[in-house]
Amino acid sequence: MDKANATREIAKLRTEIERHNRLYYFEAKPEISDLEFDKLLERLIALEREFPELLAPDSPSQRVGGGITREFPTVEHREPMLSLSNTYSIGEVDEFRARVEKLVEAEGGGAPEYVAELKYDGVAVSLLYRDGLLVRGSTRGDGRRGDEITANLRTIPSIPLRLDSPAGALFDPALSGEIEVRGEVYMRKDDFERLNEDRPEEERFANPRNATAGTLKLQDSAEVARRRMSFIAYYLKGRGGEAPTHLRRLEKLKGLGFMTGETARLCREMSEIVEFIGEWSEKRWTLPYETDGVVLKLNEVALWDRLGATAKSPRWAIAYKYPAQQAKTVLNRVVFQVGRLGTITPVAELEPVKLAGSTVSRSTLHNFDEIERLGVRVGDRVMIEKSGEVIPKVVGVVLEERPDETFGIEAPSECPVCGARLERPEGEVSWYCPNEEDCPAQKRGRILHYASRNALDIQNLGESLVAQLVDRGLVNDAGDLYKLTQAELASLDRMAAKSARNVLDALEKSKTQSYARLLFALGIRHVGAATARELAHACPSIDRLRDTSEEDLAAVPDIGPVIAESISDFFAKPWARAMLEKLSEAGLPMQAEAGKALVNNNFEGQSVIFTGGLERHDRNRAAELVRERGGRVVTSVSKKTTLVVAGKDAGSKLEKALKLGLKVVDEEGFEAMLS
Ligand code: IVH
Repeated sequence: MDKANATREIAKLRTEIERHNRLYYFEAKPEISDLEFDKLLERLIALEREFPELLAPDSPSQRVGGGITREFPTVEHREPMLSLSNTYSIGEVDEFRARVEKLVEAEGGGAPEYVAELKYDGVAVSLLYRDGLLVRGSTRGDGRRGDEITANLRTIPSIPLRLDSPAGALFDPALSGEIEVRGEVYMRKDDFERLNEDRPEEERFANPRNATAGTLKLQDSAEVARRRMSFIAYYLKGRGGEAPTHLRRLEKLKGLGFMTGETARLCREMSEIVEFIGEWSEKRWTLPYETDGVVLKLNEVALWDRLGATAKSPRWAIAYKYPAQQAKTVLNRVVFQVGRLGTITPVAELEPVKLAGSTVSRSTLHNFDEIERLGVRVGDRVMIEKSGEVIPKVVGVVLEERPDETFGIEAPSECPVCGARLERPEGEVSWYCPNEEDCPAQKRGRILHYASRNALDIQNLGESLVAQLVDRGLVNDAGDLYKLTQAELASLDRMAAKSARNVLDALEKSKTQSYARLLFALGIRHVGAATARELAHACPSIDRLRDTSEEDLAAVPDIGPVIAESISDFFAKPWARAMLEKLSEAGLPMQAEAGKALVNNNFEGQSVIFTGGLERHDRNRAAELVRERGGRVVTSVSKKTTLVVAGKDAGSKLEKALKLGLKVVDEEGFEAMLS
């Protein structure tokens, strides 16, 4: 392709990709699948790699991350990032209003206007734009100084990399100089659920806010990009026609390309404030993101300066927090679920009750330590709460209302599904069904995991179908799925020729998924999607993974001894080997994609570390070059490091390497080793 054509295609791709970003993040109405979206992005990245001179700092390709930040530098805020004082009752809100009005009156002003908006439950950040380009992003930190996390914030699609010109101009003088935007980074509920599905159970986040906070601190921006966070702006400061009211500033933010939440409402009277709070107390459950309250601000910005702030919070704004969502109900029964790894989870069956926008009739009790801690018995009146407002849980027993007859909750001694004697490993809080090969519940769980969205994403393979397949003995493991015939599928309940065909098509499509996804789909204990990607890199085929010693696996970054042991246990199981055999026969990707096949094996068996500044490639590309040649890239120097590539001004790592007597080359030497 020549440069003129590339320029055209790149421009078209960028517009198209940003349009789909908007559809997904601003309007929650995606038009294309994730896979199709990734294809567009890959095409753009490939073109930009071919024509590096066409790369632009605001290209959507700059959102995929890839850089590793070792430490986040501390930066000083232009002006302190305050927090809001919280109130928990309408009475306190009214006190705030009275206080404000007294101050305003003393200044000779009339009755002030308020803006009510939702309090987004995420993490506050500050964004700095210079001449329209995003140059710095930071956390709130202690309010005066925060961490500079620009690389991570760049990956968030609803943060513009370049401000839109409201005038539609290519260069808009109104955007010159510095503009600061503050707002909340958060994770949408659906994106949060997807992230958690991706993770081993023991590593799941409790709620979207924790997930957001944890993600913003990650050092690997490519992982941040995968996690899909969003940004809502609520504060604007900068040169160029200061709008005099908060509402006008929100409008302005919208014009610059930000999401602003759309719920802000002007309130003149206390009654309107009360109405807003009341209206959203239920309606908020229908939003795609979480809110834990309402923020009230004075609309007139001049008053902000005049009223000023206390040490921690401004006098011109306040937060009203909704009470925790709790409900009282009756614990009718406890049933025991068997997970795909054999874990027995006690589940409370409750008298149905309305809570946080839905009817709750079941809730997890986690494990027997939790039951003991709560002191809960069957028949009790219990309080349930939506933790992180997603999954309901039992938080306590109303002892004063305990009926005369209640029943203790005993751990079953046998698996409720297959009857095997349960075991409780030393030091663990859960009981396990040891019959992993034959327990129908575990088989079903493994197959559902295999088909789940972040694994092979086999649509049409839902719970009831999988249950029938396993219970009728048609399928024992994921490998058997590929032997099913249309007639077999069509003979099942709620299935017909067409739906059977759809399942077969979906199965066929699953063969084109990536090797990394297949590794995740196998359901090896402790191997989440991120670990699977790491493994796919380190061991680009199943055979290689199986033949890598536990010790070598443990040395792979982010793997460690526990996961290494779990992987080697997995390959030792006869049923796992049989399943792999079937999957391989069916044509599933048992090795990394052909396109990513090794360029050569010049770095086979090497652990390479880069230190100091490289001039010919950026770090990520250099690391890729090593991986494409069979090597591993590590980040700390040890005896196991086999090669140190020292760039400009290499420091302590080089010193340590020399002390250990490791092989050291400069960039030129490295270049020579590539081909
Ligand atoms: S305004 C001077 N508006 O709540 C205070 N904050 O406790 C400026 N927050 O740190 C903040 N939604 O993280 C404002 N609509 C909203 C908000 C909001 C959530 C957070 C923000 C802030 C914290 C204050």
